[in-house]
Amino acid sequence: MKEYATLLTELSEGILLITINREDKLNALNKTVIGELDDVIDEVYNNPEIKGVIITGKGAKSFVAGADITEFSGMSEEQGKALARRGHDVFDKIEMSPKPIIAAVNGFALGGGCELAMACHLRIASENAKFGQPEVKLGIIPGYGGTQRLTQLIGKGKALELLMTADTIDATCAEKLGLVNDVVQTVELLEICRALVAKITSMAPYAVAQVIQSVYAHFKSGIDGFDTEIDLFGKCVATNDFTEGTAAFLQKRKAKFSGE
Ligand code: COA
Repeated sequence: MKEYATLLTELSEGILLITINREDKLNALNKTVIGELDDVIDEVYNNPEIKGVIITGKGAKSFVAGADITEFSGMSEEQGKALARRGHDVFDKIEMSPKPIIAAVNGFALGGGCELAMACHLRIASENAKFGQPEVKLGIIPGYGGTQRLTQLIGKGKALELLMTADTIDATCAEKLGLVNDVVQTVELLEICRALVAKITSMAPYAVAQVIQSVYAHFKSGIDGFDTEIDLFGKCVATNDFTEGTAAFLQKRKAKFSGE
């Protein structure tokens, strides 16, 4: 694994733990963090030893408290668009990762932090987690996909409410809205996330990757998700893992998947 200035990485039993490491700034996403997230996600795509990923924030207080506001001042319209486009590219790469990526939300997930969590495939929150898109307080809107992914996850009415009021909600409320998959005790957060990633990575990896592709096809314009599912089902049937998975079931044994 590469060394990063703003990220800690730890690869253990096929699970890469990525910790955003700017605790004194509540792990705010500056340009370096965004660039390093881009690079580490490339490693996730390309390193066969990495089977699944957990993203979290350093410290007990914050997952990510947003984009780094100190980098906003004096920005032109063009620079604003470029900043948003860069964030979109990186977060799209996270979302379309063929390997499962889980956000372990350990505190504030505000603005770009909430957007980062939403770009992950699943979100597990600790009891002290807080979510919100407070951008209108600053005179902007979410720029890393937040208006779209929040609407996809919790529906138009509640998304508009959170986006227009800048309200912060707690983990229980986030779970009720469908923004997070589960709320767990803070001390158990990483252990539970590891168990979840391990459960997913024990399945046929190619099939898991096609689930991700097929579900996100629903949200891509000009693509029919049902057609995508038919196509990807066919591709799964042509894999060795399909032969192995069905044989293992019939022979009443645990499948040994190769990822092929
Ligand atoms: N960008 C840059 N720096 C940030 C930041 C952000 N999004 N969020 C927090 N920080 C910095 C603070 O400036 C402070 O730095 P300092 O010690 O050098 O002054 C440090 O992190 C600690 O934050 P602080 O505000 O003192 O902690 P708090 O417990 O009083 O408040 C928050 C926590 C999360 C409520 C508050 O930091 C906050 O509102 N942050 C901005 C959230 C936001 O608007 N995000 C969307 C950005 S688009």
